[in-house]
Amino acid sequence: MQASEYLSYGSKGMVFTQYGSYWRTVRKWCTLHLLSASKVEEFASVRKAHLRSSVESVKKSAVAGEVVDLTRKVSELIEDTMCQMIFGQAKDDGFNLRSLVDQTMHLHGLFCISDFIPYLAPLDLQGIGRRLRRTSKLLDVVFEKIIDEHVQGTDPNGLKPHKDFVDMMISMLNQPMNPHDEDQPYIIERNNVKAILLDMTAASYDTSAVVIVWAFSEILRHPRVMIRLQQELEDVVGRNRLVEESDLSKLLYLDMVVKESTRLHPVAPFIVPRESMEDVIVDGYFIPKKSRILVNTWSMARDRSRRGCPGMQLALITVRLVLAQLIHCFDWELPDGMQPNELDMSEIFGLLLPRANHLLAKPTYRLLE
Ligand code: HEM
Repeated sequence: MQASEYLSYGSKGMVFTQYGSYWRTVRKWCTLHLLSASKVEEFASVRKAHLRSSVESVKKSAVAGEVVDLTRKVSELIEDTMCQMIFGQAKDDGFNLRSLVDQTMHLHGLFCISDFIPYLAPLDLQGIGRRLRRTSKLLDVVFEKIIDEHVQGTDPNGLKPHKDFVDMMISMLNQPMNPHDEDQPYIIERNNVKAILLDMTAASYDTSAVVIVWAFSEILRHPRVMIRLQQELEDVVGRNRLVEESDLSKLLYLDMVVKESTRLHPVAPFIVPRESMEDVIVDGYFIPKKSRILVNTWSMARDRSRRGCPGMQLALITVRLVLAQLIHCFDWELPDGMQPNELDMSEIFGLLLPRANHLLAKPTYRLLE
């Protein structure tokens, strides 16, 4: 695919990389240094701090009687949290990484004719190639800067107290990927590190936010669900303190609401295209080796299925915690006297499937100080 060639440094990340030893090693690194249960736990304080400041700002809107743009609020919260986890630093507004990630997702989601008729690629009939080259150049500048800053901040004696994910990736630079490989060793270069960083950013920035906003939309559309969630939160947490991550395992109804909402609104209607590794017959249909497979998660979610996301633990904690906090701290009503059944639920189709319009609602603080 054209988009993955440009935006994944020639498939050097994880998401668009063929199944094999490179993919396995990258997945192992990302799990070990960012997405494992212990790493996710290590970042609990980061999630807590960002969520707390977000709740404080919604509280101010509640006092002022303002409507809150939940799409924007949640997306900024997730961006701030993930940025700190992946890059070990607060968001740098000079980078404008957010809008580049948005463009990346948008370009991945476009129907690109030359993906299906490759000899048309040099003509770039839709102008997608030009946009891909421009976005990939801008992204490259950002990731070069992040890597340079980390290299300069790296303690040559290895005494830096906390090594973040970028430090860990940099420590692999110019090293053989699998030192015990019998074949010629594959040496890790900056492009590999940049592709992995882009994958982690793109996979985490929008996914959790889209899930939270859809779940919130469904909850607003079904007031009985809101009441039952608030009741569960009162039983488990009470009204005198904020929800903690340690409460989540007891919030069973919340868990069911998130699952049902994700089924109705799968974050990606099609997962990224995959290629069949061998000839196979599925349900009587012959699928030759190297066919491009589009998996329709939207329809699978209306049937039973299994699939694998390495960030699921992080995503589920984030989604449930943010929803719990917003529902526990505030009562919500739709703006301008809108009735729940009037809430617009239109989707935009692309790589992800977000709401077409921002979700707006008016909060009232409900905890006892
Ligand atoms: C609620 C939020 C999320 C949902 C619903 C979600 C869903 C998915 C799905 C359906 C896939 C495709 C799996 C497949 O191809 O079989 C996937 C892949 C992936 N996700 Fe997530 N994801 C979420 C959050 C995250 C987060 C926070 C990260 C962290 C970086 C992440 C990282 C990835 C990566 C790297 C892949 C590619 C895995 C591979 O190709 O081996 N995801 N995700």
